[in-house]
Amino acid sequence: MNDNKWWKSAVIYQIYPRSFADSNHDGIGDLQGIISKLDYLENLGIDAVWLSPVCKSPQDDNGYDISDYQDIDPMFGTLEDMDELIKEAGKRNIRIIMDLVLNHSSDEHYWFKEAKKSRENPYHDYYVWRDGAEGTPPNDMRAAFGGSAWEWVPEIKQYYFHQFAVKQPDLNWENPKLRKEIYTMINWWIEKGVGGFRLDVIDQIAKEPDKRITNNGPRLHEFLRELSKETFQKADLVTVGEAWGATTELAKLYSNPDNSELSMVFQFEHICLDQLEGKEKWDLAPLPFLRLKEVFGRWQEELFEKGWNSLFWNNHDLPRIVSRWGNDGKYRVESAKMLAILLHGMQGTPYIYQGEELGMTNAAYEIEEYRDIETLNLYKERLENGYAKEEVMRSIHAKSRDNARTPMQWNDEKNAGFTEGTPWIKLNPNYKEINAAKQVNDRNSIFSCYKELIRFRKQYPVFVRGNFQMLLANHESIFAYIREDDQTQLLVICNFYDQTVDCPYKMPGEDMRLLISNYKDTDQNFILRPYEARMYLGEK
Ligand code: GLC
Ligand code: CA
Repeated sequence: MNDNKWWKSAVIYQIYPRSFADSNHDGIGDLQGIISKLDYLENLGIDAVWLSPVCKSPQDDNGYDISDYQDIDPMFGTLEDMDELIKEAGKRNIRIIMDLVLNHSSDEHYWFKEAKKSRENPYHDYYVWRDGAEGTPPNDMRAAFGGSAWEWVPEIKQYYFHQFAVKQPDLNWENPKLRKEIYTMINWWIEKGVGGFRLDVIDQIAKEPDKRITNNGPRLHEFLRELSKETFQKADLVTVGEAWGATTELAKLYSNPDNSELSMVFQFEHICLDQLEGKEKWDLAPLPFLRLKEVFGRWQEELFEKGWNSLFWNNHDLPRIVSRWGNDGKYRVESAKMLAILLHGMQGTPYIYQGEELGMTNAAYEIEEYRDIETLNLYKERLENGYAKEEVMRSIHAKSRDNARTPMQWNDEKNAGFTEGTPWIKLNPNYKEINAAKQVNDRNSIFSCYKELIRFRKQYPVFVRGNFQMLLANHESIFAYIREDDQTQLLVICNFYDQTVDCPYKMPGEDMRLLISNYKDTDQNFILRPYEARMYLGEK
C-alpha cells in the first residue's frame, strides 16, 4: 500500500463559512473571519480545511447552489481574500479544500439562464430536459427537498430535472462540452493552489431519470476517471467524494489506490442507522448498536489496502454527535471524548466538523428560528400530510441540518464572539458554558483530547496502516477493537453508554501503555465507567 500520500495521515477540519467567524459585523461568517482563526486551527493541529461552498450563489441552499464557479460570493469576500486565505493557511501547513458542487448549478448560473431561453441555445443541453405537458411531468420522481423533481418552463414547454431544490437544476454530464468547461474551471482552482476538493453528491452526476436512476448511474465511474485524468491527477491533491449510495464494493472503485478516480469516499452507512428501515431520516429509531459495530467493522476490513474511507460523525448536514449518540447532559465531556477516541483510532482520514472539538450540541428551537430549506420544506410537507406538530418538531430537533449550523462558539462574550452584528441564525444559548476560550488551554478539555488524537496519527504509523480487528462484536455496550502493524498494537476500548459495565476483555498488561483516556484515574481494572474510553499502545 502507498502510505506516502499526505492525506493518509492527515486530519481534515470542516468549516461552514457562514457560521464560523464574522469579520465585518453583518452577522454572516466570511473569509477574513476564517483567516483570523487560522492560529486556532494550527494549534489544534489539523492538516487541511474543507471549506463548504464560498462561490457566488443566491444562497438558496447556503451556497450549494452556485451561480459562478470562478468567483467568491460577496457575502464571504473576494477572490483576493481567497488567495490570502490559501497563502496564510499554507504558512501554517494547512491546505484548503474547496467544495465542488458539480451535480447541479444554481438556476441563476449563466449556463442555465441561457439554457432556458430556447431548445436551440448552445447551453440548453447542459441541463436535463424532457418534453411533457404542463401539469404532467415525465414521471413522478421526487426531489430530495420535497416536491416533484421536474419543473416546468413555459417559455420552451419543457421540464428540467432537479434532484434537490427547484433552484438547483441538474447538470447534464452526458454533454462533453459541459464536462470540458467543468475541467477548465477545476484546473483554474488547482492553479490557485488549493489542496484538493470535496465533491458534493458526486454519486448522482450520472443520472438517468427515464430509468429513475439517480445515484450510481451506469456511466458514473467512466465520468469520474475522465474527470480525474483531466484535472486532479495533475497535482498532489486530496479528493473526497460524497457518496450516500456507496457500498464497500463501490468504494473500492472510487478510492482505488491506483488513483484513477478519487482519494477517498465519504459515505454514510453508519450515520443512517438511527431511522426506521426504508423510511426517511426524520422517522426516528434508536441506534442499533450491534449494527453500528458491524458496519464500522465491515468498512474497516473490506477497504484495507484496497481503498480509503473518511472517518466522521458530523458535517453540515448532520446533527451534533454528542447530542445524537453521546450524552449532552451530565456526561457531555466524557461522551464527546469517547466518540472522538473511538473514531480516531480507526483507519481512514478523520474529519472534524467545526465545534465538534468543543463538544457543541444540538439546538432545539421553535420553527421560526430555522433557516434550512430542507427543514422548512419538511415542516410544511409533513403538516400538510397530517402529522402532528409535536412529532414533526421532535424530528427536527433530532435531525435538522441547522443543528450543525448554529454559530461557532468562540467565547462567553456577546454572540459567543462570532459576530458583533445580528447572527444570521440564532446562537445556541449554551455558549456561556461551551466555548473555545474555555477549552484551548485546559489539558482536560474535549479540545485537548482532539488535539492529542491528531498528534498520535502523525506520531504512530499504526494509526495509518494498521489492520483492524473488532473485539467483543456481540457485546451490547462495549465498542472495542485492535489495530496492528508489524511493530505495534493499538487497542481501543469504549463503553458506549451511561451505565458502568464489566469489561470481559482482559485489559492489557505492562506491555501496553495507556495513550489516552477520558477519566483521570484510569487503572488497569476491568470496570468501565459511563462512556469510559481507553486507548492503549504497545510494541510487539
Ligand atoms: C450535499 C450537501 C448538502 C446539499 C446537497 C445539495 O448533500 O452536503 O448540504 O444541500 O448536497 O447540493
Ligand atoms: Ca461577514
